[in-house]
Amino acid sequence: MTNTQDVPNIQTGKDFLGEHYNLSFNPLTPDPCTKIKEYVERTDELKRFERDINLGTKKFCSYLVIGEKGLGKTSFVNICMKKAQNYGLKTIYIPNVPNSGQKFIQDLLAATLKTAEEFMDVPGGKTYSEYIHKKSVHPKTVFEKWTELIDQMQPKPVIVAIDETDNLPGISQIAPLFNNYIFDQAKNIIFFLCTLPGTYKEMHENMGAFTDRFPLVMDITPFSKEELMLCLEKKLSSARIDKKNMKSLYHPFDMDAINVLLEYANGVPRYMLEIAGEAIQESLNNKDVMINKGMIVAAANNVQRSTLDKAWLHLTYMEKETLVKMIELGGEGLKLVELADALNKTKGTIVPYLNKLDACGLIERGGKKPADIIYKVIADAESIKRLSGGR
Ligand SMILES: Nc1ncnc2c1ncn2[C@@H]1O[C@H](COP(=O)(O)OP(=O)(O)OP(=O)(O)O)[C@@H](O)[C@H]1O
Ligand SMILES: [Mg+2]
Repeated sequence: MTNTQDVPNIQTGKDFLGEHYNLSFNPLTPDPCTKIKEYVERTDELKRFERDINLGTKKFCSYLVIGEKGLGKTSFVNICMKKAQNYGLKTIYIPNVPNSGQKFIQDLLAATLKTAEEFMDVPGGKTYSEYIHKKSVHPKTVFEKWTELIDQMQPKPVIVAIDETDNLPGISQIAPLFNNYIFDQAKNIIFFLCTLPGTYKEMHENMGAFTDRFPLVMDITPFSKEELMLCLEKKLSSARIDKKNMKSLYHPFDMDAINVLLEYANGVPRYMLEIAGEAIQESLNNKDVMINKGMIVAAANNVQRSTLDKAWLHLTYMEKETLVKMIELGGEGLKLVELADALNKTKGTIVPYLNKLDACGLIERGGKKPADIIYKVIADAESIKRLSGGR
């Protein structure tokens, strides 16, 4: 048996976090917000939603939640769902839109069944499960099952949040389903559909009848510096051990560190939390009692590198080729036709590659009219060369 007195007093990471940072865990993670007290209210948007559900308005409108990556779309719908639950409403969450209408309606039935089973005995629950797993079934048949289930759920409206729709083929599969069947239920349902601004624009241009059914457009805009600071403070506060005797609301970050962090974040809470979380992890490993500006710079470099490495891993061969070619061509002001020529492909072939690179945040699109569209690489060219093996 070990005599505990012989064991040297090695401070574990958790002890160190508690003793020096006044934190019970590292709360700075990029996970979507789920708790109202950690949420920096996007006041107007939330107020509108709360007013609608509170007044029990008879005719409900559905919402399109639009925002660039990491600005807080999922967090926004999570908080709306929490508020709706506080009014006794039932919420259904679909994490992403698959590339098939049949799969989508089956996912919708599965998510609805999951919610229904949380608060009632669902008669014929097994039959629903069969429809969820059938290999080949007409979407209309699954839709009828879904309607049957929705009709049993009280009170109305039921909230259905559909997240992660930055996948246009997916949307073009589900739009007809909505137009032909699902919108029939809209008087009893508030839909939320989250999407990137670029995808929204394309949806609006090509599927106007569909987007028109979401009259409330919620723009999730970049945070101001004050909002970012409040976000950081709230996350840290959720893990504080001693809330009374705090050195600073942002401890262990010093003010120079915070200022640099805000610059890097550029309005995007996800960037801020990734960098700040990484800085805490690193300083914990090194047993540093404060986090300064230099440590934020180092953390930002690490985050940038690992984000790029992860994005690169998920690209197909042709997507990588396209990105490398764009860098060879100078990285900016690139026209579609010029890129297609350089890659020896048609314009139609390379558009999906460009869409994927855009959705991953590696390139961006400029220009208003389709004929004027130009592309620019925003990923670090040197890092891409490193990843592509210096071709
Ligand atoms: N209003 C807010 N208050 C507090 N934290 C927030 C808020 N909005 C976003 N965040 C935080 O920012 C990060 C990114 O948020 P979220 O995942 O909701 O973004 P998103 O727009 O859904 O991103 P993606 O496009 O990648 O799905 C999360 O860590 C989340 O906790
Ligand atoms: Mg999201």
